[in-house]
Amino acid sequence: MSGATIDPTRSQVYAADLTAKMTLVEKAAQLTQVEKNSITPDEVAEFAIGSVLSGSGGNPDPNTPADWRLMVDEYLDAATRSRLGVPLLYGTDSVHGHSNVRGATIFPHNIGLGATGDPELVEAVYRATAVETAATGARWAFAPTLAVALDARWGRTYESFGDDPDLVARLGAAAVRGLHGDGLDRSGSVVSCLKHYVGDGGTTWGSIGRGDMEWIDWWDGWGPGWRIDQGDTIVDEETLRAVHLKPYLDGLAAGSLTVMASYNSWNGDKLHGHRYLLTDVLKHELGFDGFVISDWLGIDQLDPDPYRCVVDALSAGVDMVMVPFEFRRFIDNVVRAVEAGDLPLERVDDAVARVLTVKHAMGLVAPQPPPPPPIETVGCDDHRRLARRAVAASAVRLSDPAGVLPLAPATVLVAGEGVDDIGLQCGGWTIEWQGGRGPITRGTTILGGLRECAGFEVVHEPTGRFEPSVHARYGLLVLAEPPYSEGSGDRADLTLPAEDRALVERLRRHVDTLILVLITGRPLVLDSVIDQCDAVVAAWLPGSEGTGIVDVLIGAAPFSGRLPRTWPGGPGPTDNPTGSAGNSTSGEQTQWDRGHGVMT
Ligand code: BGC
Repeated sequence: MSGATIDPTRSQVYAADLTAKMTLVEKAAQLTQVEKNSITPDEVAEFAIGSVLSGSGGNPDPNTPADWRLMVDEYLDAATRSRLGVPLLYGTDSVHGHSNVRGATIFPHNIGLGATGDPELVEAVYRATAVETAATGARWAFAPTLAVALDARWGRTYESFGDDPDLVARLGAAAVRGLHGDGLDRSGSVVSCLKHYVGDGGTTWGSIGRGDMEWIDWWDGWGPGWRIDQGDTIVDEETLRAVHLKPYLDGLAAGSLTVMASYNSWNGDKLHGHRYLLTDVLKHELGFDGFVISDWLGIDQLDPDPYRCVVDALSAGVDMVMVPFEFRRFIDNVVRAVEAGDLPLERVDDAVARVLTVKHAMGLVAPQPPPPPPIETVGCDDHRRLARRAVAASAVRLSDPAGVLPLAPATVLVAGEGVDDIGLQCGGWTIEWQGGRGPITRGTTILGGLRECAGFEVVHEPTGRFEPSVHARYGLLVLAEPPYSEGSGDRADLTLPAEDRALVERLRRHVDTLILVLITGRPLVLDSVIDQCDAVVAAWLPGSEGTGIVDVLIGAAPFSGRLPRTWPGGPGPTDNPTGSAGNSTSGEQTQWDRGHGVMT
């Protein structure tokens, strides 16, 4: 168990001793993770629940850092009142900062960090994320995502560092180091979670097997638009290992102690029930001695019968289950499965011991868990400065044939929804699961940043409908994808929408030099738009500190970002049959290769 400052043997001894004292119901409860709106602190105490999470919408009301701390503390305190007082692990989706918390620093999504190619910067970003997360009492981040996103039509492309397994491995390991800090048992550390194991970024368009999962009660959001997310990764084992498993080797070597199973299948078999990949490869071959957490309702996709889901998932190697709602039924099923001989007690004991070992290694047990960092660290100036630096480093100058950037002080006509909208800058997984538009949290927009710059006269008209007589040296158009997350972002066609193209033409008429900035979770097909603009910049999903984009536009910071994945040039890609790395969107033309970026 590397990466932890605590003696691993001591953690294992603690886990073995405690497991021996637990009843079967307590063991089952230790393997249970419940979303916070489905359980009260008293129920946590009564059952001795192992973990609670804030999934989407799992925010306190009001959603402030201090209220987060109170909410998490109630659950942590409750666990200490259980019969054996086993500490609880509280988990959150801190995937680009502690991003559910209003007022937290929101860093660029991973695709932008991938463009920085800078492990030290990524480590610093995840360090700050850990401090803000731990300040609210939560000690488990469901991050980093280690997907090697091969098909940009996938709605989770932006959660991936890129389509190069080596880049994902390098930056993923840096993220783990950042989350763990000086040691897992130190104040300000959170335990990382490598996700989604394995092959999530290699699924085939149209392969989501909804037909075989008719029993699932698809709720709002898991809808018919889902075409590739949670689908099937159809590759041979050599490819699976070389492309999708590769980053896990580095993530584990960096000391990660939890791994989340993926919704996807591998050649038709769902990962949540995949004994070979979860147990033989991950635990035995790779020596992973932490624990495997299932994804939200992930085991429910295995079988129409919830009992069989529990048996199949735990037998395959899942250790803790993100239930997330019906925790009593889950506990009952585990107990029933052991009593009926469908699930060996040794497997349950192994899972419990793994969970307890991690808790001990994190210093949750004794004599006192490490104190949370001050709540004022959430959204503090230092972290916002770091985020601004990360935003500047992530921007990729896609084209600028005449070298019109940086801008000289002059009049700038500014248009496009993305120029003054924190929600669009942040994208999905911000405050809400799907993100939102407008002032959803605190931050700076590109417009706000530009207005602070001396010498620039800024004229803002979101629609780009300026009076015919208006003419200026510069036009700055910031186009943005709407926010989305997971399969809601699956898109058959990545071509820039017609209304955005119309806006390019409209603004073009009023300016000498037109700069296009794209706020986007993935490459969009630009074709002729590239020639209509003097410069094009990918800002990705920069997060709360939009001023970082202004820094590169005006030359206060250099352009150093490079494409972390190929950028398609033709109409939407047609298929991804091979999933081979570097051939990320086979069947498409390539506009720019991975690594492209016009440097300062
Ligand atoms: C996602 C995970 C996430 C979990 C908890 C799932 O829908 O796939 O990435 O960690 O929800 O919010």
